[in-house]
Amino acid sequence: MGNGIAHVFGMNKIPVHLVEMNESLGKKALNTISMNLDRMVKKEKISAGQKEQTIENISLYTDVKKAVADVDLVVEAVPENIDLKKKIFTQVDEAAPDNAILASNTSSISITKLAASTERPRQFIGMHFFNPVPVMKLVEVVKGFKTSDETYESVKNTAQKLGKTPVPVQDYPGFVSNRVLMPMINEAISCVHEGVATPENVDSVMKLGMAHPMGPLRLADFIGLDVCLDIMNVLYEGFKDPKYRPSPLLVNMVNAGKLGNKTGEGFYKYD
Ligand code: 3HC
Repeated sequence: MGNGIAHVFGMNKIPVHLVEMNESLGKKALNTISMNLDRMVKKEKISAGQKEQTIENISLYTDVKKAVADVDLVVEAVPENIDLKKKIFTQVDEAAPDNAILASNTSSISITKLAASTERPRQFIGMHFFNPVPVMKLVEVVKGFKTSDETYESVKNTAQKLGKTPVPVQDYPGFVSNRVLMPMINEAISCVHEGVATPENVDSVMKLGMAHPMGPLRLADFIGLDVCLDIMNVLYEGFKDPKYRPSPLLVNMVNAGKLGNKTGEGFYKYD
């Protein structure tokens, strides 16, 4: 999601330091942003000049500490691994200006736990974007136990500058979005597992009967089945309630490396 986040900041005239692990991944990210901007130019949502300006607003970095040395806001979007996120936030906390706000785009990891890995829990918050970031209007703004009102107000204003609608939620497992969405996806997977219907038919029911833009299994592939499983595990462990038990079919598919769009196969096959 990092490239989508950089895309919307850059497009709204906010300079971005985009950090990737190496130069080639950085170039790949910029290429994805460029292609997504091209489709917006083609649809006449932005001009070719705005595309160029957006790209100019994004500078690539491979060194986290250098990237954050003079910024007001850091938005972390690394994989959903708490140890990795904590390690990165420790580095960011050391290098970022004292008044900078640190935000995580985590889909379910506790903001309060991540904040505790820094010396600035009052300036720590969740800024949860949705895929595809340039299209989806929501930013779920997650308040940790110690997040200050000033931090919330500042992040709320930033989300509005990006043309998004910020919605405040408290820091409990899955926040609101994934606490509601993931059990639905998990139940759709159970329908396939139990032979109630094929993936195509489960998706047709939800698209035609409930007006969902994508069926839950197509959406699971789009999000990544590994991410879906991680989130179900966070709900299961966080609430200690068996209603959040991940479907065994979901577990098996992740173990088999069928992760959805990103690996070319999940509930559907992708070119
Ligand atoms: N960048 C820029 N624009 C994009 C884009 C991208 N990456 N992807 C799609 N678009 C634009 C298209 O240009 C098009 O614009 P238009 O309306 O002006 O013509 C519009 O989005 C619709 O795209 P398409 O016509 O190509 O395709 P669809 O009509 O099938 O829409 C979709 C695609 C927007 C992905 C739609 O199917 C959808 O809304 N799906 C549900 C997405 C969803 O639920 N996301 C949330 C996932 S959960 C999450 O992210 C949280 C995490 O914690 C798990």
